[in-house]
Amino acid sequence: MNVLKRYLKFSLKRSSKLQGTRAMAAVTQVLACDSTSIVFSLDDQVAISSPETLTALHTAASCLKDLLPVAFPTETVYGLGAIALNATAALKIFSTKGRPADNPLIVHVSSRRMLQTLLPQNYTLSRSYELLIEHFWPGPLTLLFPCDHSLIPDIITAGQPTVAIRMPSHPVARALIAVTDAPLAAPSANSSGKPSPTHAEHVLNDLNGKVTIILDGGPCEVGLESTVVDGLHEDGNIRILRPGGITVEDIKRVLVNGFSDTDTPIPQILVHRRDFHDDTLEQAPTTPGMKYRHYSPSVPVTLMRMSDAPLGIEPLSPSAFLEVLKRSVSHSPDVLRVGLLMPSDSILMKYLISDTTIQWHEFPLGLVSEPAIIARRLFDGLLTLERERVDLILVEEVPEENEGLAIMNRVKKAAGSSQWIVFP
Ligand code: TXA
Ligand code: MG
Repeated sequence: MNVLKRYLKFSLKRSSKLQGTRAMAAVTQVLACDSTSIVFSLDDQVAISSPETLTALHTAASCLKDLLPVAFPTETVYGLGAIALNATAALKIFSTKGRPADNPLIVHVSSRRMLQTLLPQNYTLSRSYELLIEHFWPGPLTLLFPCDHSLIPDIITAGQPTVAIRMPSHPVARALIAVTDAPLAAPSANSSGKPSPTHAEHVLNDLNGKVTIILDGGPCEVGLESTVVDGLHEDGNIRILRPGGITVEDIKRVLVNGFSDTDTPIPQILVHRRDFHDDTLEQAPTTPGMKYRHYSPSVPVTLMRMSDAPLGIEPLSPSAFLEVLKRSVSHSPDVLRVGLLMPSDSILMKYLISDTTIQWHEFPLGLVSEPAIIARRLFDGLLTLERERVDLILVEEVPEENEGLAIMNRVKKAAGSSQWIVFP
């Protein structure tokens, strides 16, 4: 039995014990699923060869049909799913997470056929959407579509005229939707404001007793949420509301190739807050972090910036920074415990850990040249260091290109402060 399974077994026993002593919403069951036993055919039919996985999926599907949320793995992060077309079921997502009601949910489908059932009758996909779906579905790309309000409950869209839809590529996610035979609304499976879970264990640590079933499909490969794209504007441009698993560079490549043989101009790709601002968007929480606190562990996070400091901000040398740290961070009487969430080849990390008066908790993220690995490990790092009870977490910035754009989007929201550093 591997460590996680043993831990989960222990945790389950503990949660059953707690059941007797204090009122809990549910005993949380963690059901292992073997992704390799799930196969989708080209026409979106699912076959599941492992009896254990099949039973787990059917148990989860019947829980969903009883209108209870289920936590399940996707390729991005773990999701907390409920039947999307049932307002009562969707409402339970909000109460389980403590999520503000004005934050809309993404609807997850398992096939093009299922997508079609959600769209208004007279709506046809634009060429851009056809290209994006062809290249990135199933996968970590969410698209906004016009909403048929007679079909989709208002609680899903939070009053927006659009509905966000994606087809996840994780076999367990897609199979759960197919077996339930219903689109599932699913935000990340964490208490609102916390980092998103990328392992079943993260979900259990956070929502134990609040959710009936967690499907365990192992660690999430992408590690950051899907890219949210709005391609519904009349100018035909592609607006990135949330950078994520599919990079701006990926999207650009597909659109440039896909429009090369037409007279239609290639749509521009505009990243929110970098290339455009939208006051209405800023007011409504239509993209994470615009209105609410996001991705923050209970420990303070400081973003360590090595790029040029903005005018008026004096960067510190690493040694001056260490002095400030020792003076200003309140900590347990014995020793200052600092988490380091930095690239494995970070020069700053190497410098800092040479100070032995601080207890360092390193969580190397991967090489700067491999942002996809850094993305995969980021939330795990925040959650792991939080559990190690450090006094402070220092996260080092990465270049805002490829996966780095999404990484920095999440890190800036998680961090309460920034510190510019310059090596003398
Ligand atoms: O990768 C993901 O997208 C994960 C997994 C579970 O699929 N889900 C996820 O959901 O990240 P959530 O709720 O944590 O973030 C979805 C974001 C919402 O914060 C919301 O702002 C945006 O998508 N969204 C949903 N519907 C929208 C709409 N109609 N217009 C604009 N933004 C929308
Ligand atoms: Mg979330």
